[in-house]
Amino acid sequence: MKKIFVTGGTGYIGSHTVVELQQSGFEVIIADNLCNSNIGVLDGIEQITGIRPAFEQIDLADEKQTRDFFSRHRDVEAVIHFAALKAVGESVQKPLEYYRNNLNSLMNVIGCMREYGIRNLVFSSSCTVYGQADVLPVTETTPRKQAESPYGNTKAMCEDIMRDVAKVEKGMNLLALRYFNPIGAHPSACIGELPNGVPNNLIPYLTQTVAGIREQLSVFGDDYNTPDGSAIRDYIDVVDLARAHVVAIRRLLEGKNKANYEYFNIGTGRGVSVLELIQAFERATGEKVNYRITGRRAGDIEKVWADTTLANTELGWKAVVPLEETLANAWRWQQHLGKMKK
Ligand code: NAD
Ligand code: WQD
Repeated sequence: MKKIFVTGGTGYIGSHTVVELQQSGFEVIIADNLCNSNIGVLDGIEQITGIRPAFEQIDLADEKQTRDFFSRHRDVEAVIHFAALKAVGESVQKPLEYYRNNLNSLMNVIGCMREYGIRNLVFSSSCTVYGQADVLPVTETTPRKQAESPYGNTKAMCEDIMRDVAKVEKGMNLLALRYFNPIGAHPSACIGELPNGVPNNLIPYLTQTVAGIREQLSVFGDDYNTPDGSAIRDYIDVVDLARAHVVAIRRLLEGKNKANYEYFNIGTGRGVSVLELIQAFERATGEKVNYRITGRRAGDIEKVWADTTLANTELGWKAVVPLEETLANAWRWQQHLGKMKK
């Protein structure tokens, strides 16, 4: 059984990916410092797959801890690097923390992979690297724009590090997935997103509003140049996204990659406005969303969605979960969280 090292594997996207990896016959070992997740996630994974993944609490921004981990796990065949800080607003307040954590962890991981002869890496990048693109949908050749936040900048810088390392480390295969807006939860409601404090992202804020934890959802702007005036994003189901990692890992392990640094858009290819999303949620769940239109949020872009042709043809991956099913899963997860708190 091939062993995959998943950093940040108790986090939102990492935990869903661990499930898909295990269900595809891979052995998984997780390292996470639990700065934005908790150890109980392992129970959720085990409930779904019947297998408890190996886990070590490690800070990957610490070189010594990271090297110690790799020196003890020489049979790892590939790494998926999710571990990062990801709150856009917080990154503006704490830029050094974000650069230190997100850049050092990637450099430590790649450095140790080189040292211990581990060739294959999949990295979590983001559509944030495109900013407000001039032409939509965005393809992988769409020029990247200067990031709006230190967080976004760490993603662009990490991609650059991978590109530069790949130029000289010909034996290494580095692959970045540019996620659009991941939402939803596992249909079992055993794992999902665990937002810390007041959520910044739309779906956790929406589901907390419907659950009565927040009073009202603010829709940030209805004066954008879009059909209904609210902003447009490409919302990708987290299980579809998790499956993209399994496909990417297989591509590297089977040597099917066309270059030793590659990057792919991972979205649905469909743009959905905030107001359309609210309507879809109401249809999917039968619940009413209490919302009001407020001003635009600083730093938001107007619209973005992916051209996923490259992922469809090269990876053989496609998003398949219908939006309403994703939203029903997000609501089921919110209800599950509510029960846990009682
Ligand atoms: P998350 O916060 O739920 O998961 C990240 C995990 O990494 C957490 O469990 C955290 O404890 C851990 N971590 C952070 N720094 C660490 C360190 N130094 N050492 C060890 N563990 C560390 O976030 P997520 O939404 O699952 O995101 C996973 C990845 O995908 C991140 O790299 C994120 O930037 C990227 N991404 C997320 C989104 C999104 O909207 N959720 C979109 C695009 C890209
Ligand atoms: C979605 C839409 C908001 C909250 C962020 C990061 C990005 C990537 C994904 C990591 C926007 C609107 C939101 C609310 C609202 N992450 N909204 N009311 O901003 O597209 O992307 O997460 O890489 O880098 O920036 O996601 O979920 O915050 O917002 O109206 O209470 O919902 O204005 O149009 P965003 P989001």
